[in-house]
Amino acid sequence: MGHRTSTGRRVCVRVPAKVNLELTVGPPREDGYHNLATVFHAVGLYDEVCVEESDRWSVEVSGPYADGVPRGGSNLAVKAARLMGGTAEIATPMRIAIDKQIPVQGGMAGGSADAAAALLACDALWELGMGRQELERYAARLGSDVPFLLSGGTAIGSGRGENLAPVLANGTYQWVFALSPVGLSTPAVYAECDRLRGDAVVPEPTPAEELMAALRSGEADALGAALTNDLQEAAFSLRPELREVYALGIHAGALGGIVSGSGPTIAFLCADAEGALDLAVALAASGEVPEIKRALGPTHGAHVVPAAVASI
Ligand code: C5P
Repeated sequence: MGHRTSTGRRVCVRVPAKVNLELTVGPPREDGYHNLATVFHAVGLYDEVCVEESDRWSVEVSGPYADGVPRGGSNLAVKAARLMGGTAEIATPMRIAIDKQIPVQGGMAGGSADAAAALLACDALWELGMGRQELERYAARLGSDVPFLLSGGTAIGSGRGENLAPVLANGTYQWVFALSPVGLSTPAVYAECDRLRGDAVVPEPTPAEELMAALRSGEADALGAALTNDLQEAAFSLRPELREVYALGIHAGALGGIVSGSGPTIAFLCADAEGALDLAVALAASGEVPEIKRALGPTHGAHVVPAAVASI
């Protein structure tokens, strides 16, 4: 790697969170992963990741969930920046700043989102001009959800989630998220899913036709009825109180509810903005849900923020 002059620039990328509208989990694979049939859906809660060259590696984290974010080499944004640097033969250390608005270990791909953001930010910083497909290949090396966070919208994921295909989806949906103060480990939830299944024969996963039809129709009540997640019972098994939160939201008028990814966040779908506000108030009034967020979906994937409006 040769000597180069620092770009002296700072690039910031905004990246959304996700929920899985369907998460059908196959049997465990030899490599420890599970084949999935999943439908990713990007929602409007955003992290912002800024990168610039520096004289040493550093990670600064701000925002409400800053405490749960690793500052060292295990941080997925750092891994992404190192991967891109290695590819471009640029060994310069990076200063990475993360505004953490997506819950940590919440089942909303917060860590994966930061990896996607850092990939795109490095591509822009070093003017590598990587196409979407090339970026997705690097993204898949960093985590199963990372490629989706680059593209956003609503998409089918197969393999371990990294192979994306478009889905015909209409409508914009109102979501309310019941957050949990303590995260859940994704590997632990997959392991619990396997344990609960015991010796049962698990078929290879296929996308649910009911969900596809609901997405084509653009009707929120059809989508609410079609939400499915094979990890839901595993998350409830590890955290029985989540079952109560789920029941609370359904009784309070949500069109449907689902554990987001591997949890513990529970996502509720509402008919409209008024319904979402009412549901958020009902959940707050119950005293059972310490933190509630609202967001619209789908939204776009990771994108560079114009320098003048970058918030950190
Ligand atoms: O790919 P990622 O690093 O996000 O996955 C985290 C963990 O979740 C894996 O180590 C694995 O235990 C589990 N996982 C899985 N099957 C998938 C995706 C994730 O078993 N398709």
